[in-house]
Amino acid sequence: MTTPEKIAIASDHAGREMKDEVADFLRKMGLHVVDMGVNDDTSVDYPDYGVLVARAVSEGEFARGVLVCGTGVGMSILANKFPRVRAALVNNVYTAKMVKEHNNANILVLGGRLLGKGIAEEMVRTWIETKFLGGRHQRRLDKIADIESETMKGAS
Ligand code: RB5
Repeated sequence: MTTPEKIAIASDHAGREMKDEVADFLRKMGLHVVDMGVNDDTSVDYPDYGVLVARAVSEGEFARGVLVCGTGVGMSILANKFPRVRAALVNNVYTAKMVKEHNNANILVLGGRLLGKGIAEEMVRTWIETKFLGGRHQRRLDKIADIESETMKGAS
C-alpha cells in the first residue's frame, strides 16, 4: 500500500467555508489533508494562516498546499514571498491546468468569495491530476529561481 500524499491547507475567515469544502474533496481524492486553520468565522488576518502553509511548502515539509482567502489575492502575495513557492491564484479550469503544466505551481490559491463549490473542486482536481511538462518550462522556472537567489542575496 502506498502512503497517501499529504497536502497542507489554510484560509482566513473569508475562505473558511471553501477551505473546508476543498479539504473534504481532497480527502475523497485520497490525499492526507493537514488543515492548518482557520476553524471558525471570526475575522482573522490572512497572513497569520497563509504563512503556515507557505513556510511548510517552502521548507519542503509538504510538496504542495492550498490557500483560500476572500479574493485569493492576499494569500497569493503572501505565499510568493517564500523561496521555492510558486503560488497560483486561479479562477478557471484552463488556468488550473496551465499553472501545473507550465508553472509547476506548488500552492493553489482560491478566492472563497468568488467561486462556487463545483468550479473550485474542478480546478483543484485538474491541478492535482495534471503533470508538469518540464523542458522549456523548467528552464523558465530555473530563471525565476536564479532571480530569487539573487534577490535574497541583495536582501541580506
Ligand atoms: C478579508 O476581508 C479579505 O481582505 C481577505 O480574505 C482577502 O480577500 C485578501 O486579499
